[in-house]
Amino acid sequence: MTIRLDVSGMLARAVASGATAGQLADLGPRLVVAHEELLADAARGALGFRELEAQADERERVLSWAREEASRLDDVVVLGIGGSALGAQALRSALLGREWNLGDHHRRGGRPRLHVVDNVDPRSVRAMLDAVNLPHTRFLVISKSGSTAETMSQYLAVRERLTSLDLPVREHVAFVTDPWKGVLRRVAAAEGIPAFEVPENVGGRFSVLTPVGTLPAALLGMDVGALIAGATAMRDRCASGDLRANPALAFAALQWNAHTHAGQGIHVLMPYSDALREVAPWFVQLWAESLGKRSTAAHQKGVGPTPIAAVGATDQHAQVQLFMEGPADKTITFIDVEEHPDELVIPTDGAPAELAYLGGHGFGELLRAEGAATAGALAQMGRPTMTLSVTRADAWHLGGLFMFFELATIYAGHLYGVNPLDQPGVELGKQLTYYRFGHPDWKSMRETWDALPKSDPAWVL
Ligand code: PA5
Repeated sequence: MTIRLDVSGMLARAVASGATAGQLADLGPRLVVAHEELLADAARGALGFRELEAQADERERVLSWAREEASRLDDVVVLGIGGSALGAQALRSALLGREWNLGDHHRRGGRPRLHVVDNVDPRSVRAMLDAVNLPHTRFLVISKSGSTAETMSQYLAVRERLTSLDLPVREHVAFVTDPWKGVLRRVAAAEGIPAFEVPENVGGRFSVLTPVGTLPAALLGMDVGALIAGATAMRDRCASGDLRANPALAFAALQWNAHTHAGQGIHVLMPYSDALREVAPWFVQLWAESLGKRSTAAHQKGVGPTPIAAVGATDQHAQVQLFMEGPADKTITFIDVEEHPDELVIPTDGAPAELAYLGGHGFGELLRAEGAATAGALAQMGRPTMTLSVTRADAWHLGGLFMFFELATIYAGHLYGVNPLDQPGVELGKQLTYYRFGHPDWKSMRETWDALPKSDPAWVL
């Protein structure tokens, strides 16, 4: 069981735009400071996502509740958005096996189906309400703030459907929310709805290892212990300010260096694995919402990388052309899965001569060969790459990957000079929505709304 990060392809000895010996030397003291800053953040209690031991009691409560609950369920539905949904999606594709990749959501092997509704498109909400077996469904309303309009609307729709069928809400809904604040906490207390805690010091996109991820994981029979053990091992490994000894720090430092010195601010994550493909959108949200903001180090100028999700081998036939010959403004990080326990051999029988080269090899072997070939081709074109290798796409390695990217995000925040834990830029859009919906607290947004640039009919085609 191991996770390795190979950064050779980010260095000047591999690609002309890579990190030079001088840049690496300059990074040295800067990274010691970034690591000290992370430790200071942790000491003042700001990095709750690292405090896995402190969350053990709540995790145990989740596991024992889920043990009782799971056997009566046909469907588990996550209602959430952003950091409250993407982790469950990554867990589902990684740990539930092949059937999920085919969209075959029938209960099997004693496990309920897991649906994640992360939008307010009426088509999806209706489809979910019609698809589930309501008497045997538990809806997990996941919202740290307990007030997000999208999730609250979904909750109200579910509540009405349950009530109309005389199904008790408290037997079909559970909340995952802040321990003290928010509407959900109040409703839970008033109506006896089961409620689990997102620690106060863990924000949405850093919350996958709290009940936000562990509750759906436990209900689906995933190995939560292994998930947390993998995350703990990675956290403990990333304990130094030395780039050569701390993979999360190395990832953050080389991405930041590529952006700052080579204009490579587009950061692609490309797992060569269907199991890990949903890790890429989860990373995109983490990297984008944490790092794209005004920088104190750059006089309030907007900074931040642009993350892109890709998946191998599929995107070799979609995005790799751009990565190879388009603007040299990207880094590409591969995730390679070394072992495929469910390997499938490509048959030799019936293969025409032109296809004989495929026969006898495994599909997993082909996937890995294509990943290595694409990395090689990109290096040949002078494009910087890194490879994260995991032994297997299982719970332990997934926990390690989650922790790796979360720590890297904190380090990158310090390097870019931004607070990776907030998201002030999303507030204005939310407030304008509240105003448009007549929220009594946001009448004051009228002037802002009226002053927005309006569509010019002369330019509507
Ligand atoms: O990462 C974040 O903080 C956000 O993406 C939130 O997860 C998202 O806005 C949903 O918020 P909440 O969990 O409060 O409903």
